[in-house]
Amino acid sequence: MKLKTGHPVRHFDRIDSTNLEARRLAETGERGPLWLLADEQTGGRGRLGRNWVSEPGNLYATFLFSVSAGLDVVAQVSFVAALAVHDTVTALCPHLAPRIKWPNDVLIGGAKFCGVLPEVVGSAPTRIAIGCGINVAHAPKGTPYPVTALGAGLAVESVLQELDSNLSNRLKLWDEGRGFSLIRKDWAARALGLGGHVTATLGPKDLHGTFTGLAADGALILTGPDGQATHIHSGEVRFAELEALRQKAQ
Ligand code: BTN
Repeated sequence: MKLKTGHPVRHFDRIDSTNLEARRLAETGERGPLWLLADEQTGGRGRLGRNWVSEPGNLYATFLFSVSAGLDVVAQVSFVAALAVHDTVTALCPHLAPRIKWPNDVLIGGAKFCGVLPEVVGSAPTRIAIGCGINVAHAPKGTPYPVTALGAGLAVESVLQELDSNLSNRLKLWDEGRGFSLIRKDWAARALGLGGHVTATLGPKDLHGTFTGLAADGALILTGPDGQATHIHSGEVRFAELEALRQKAQ
């Protein structure tokens, strides 16, 4: 299978995880760029150590590529990828009005239909695997958050084709970090909850404040009532705008 933009695609009927396959390939010297696409994953992996239910009908794909940028800017790839997914859904289903939830979830009406898992899988040169799971035909059951699927009779191949083209464009714009200010601006224009109230759970305590921006390393900037800014790098963050959206949808 070859996409119009020219990136080769290795297709698997069934595999443990396309991100794990990218890591194995990088260990044998593969530099990409290439896509790994699976109809089904037996060990799909998500953020925060969660598993990613990967039954046939949805898109499970990983883009493996090399960069010469330092590891300090590699975290920015998460935002590049989320924008590429946003572009993809906007192009294929313009009526769905997707929004991005920090750092890289893409949601429709407050429900998640896509997860992105970027990982550094090799060094010299740095190899990056961007894993994308997009609910095309169906949404999994029993998730700890609301989920949805694109539906509308889309074919997984069309979604991958569009994603490939958008990811190529966004990676060019990012330019290994030199264009991050443009990525940050576009990401902010599509982000949920920016300027609104957020609660971040940091170990045993909750931190309340306003989501005031995105730092160069991808951290969420939470500004407290005393004006003090805290950079949140990972973990659970609750957004008042998203909670209101989900309540409205119930
Ligand atoms: C998340 O938890 O939001 C990220 C989910 C990422 C899932 C994709 S599916 C393709 C690739 N292979 C994996 O094992 N995970 C990613």
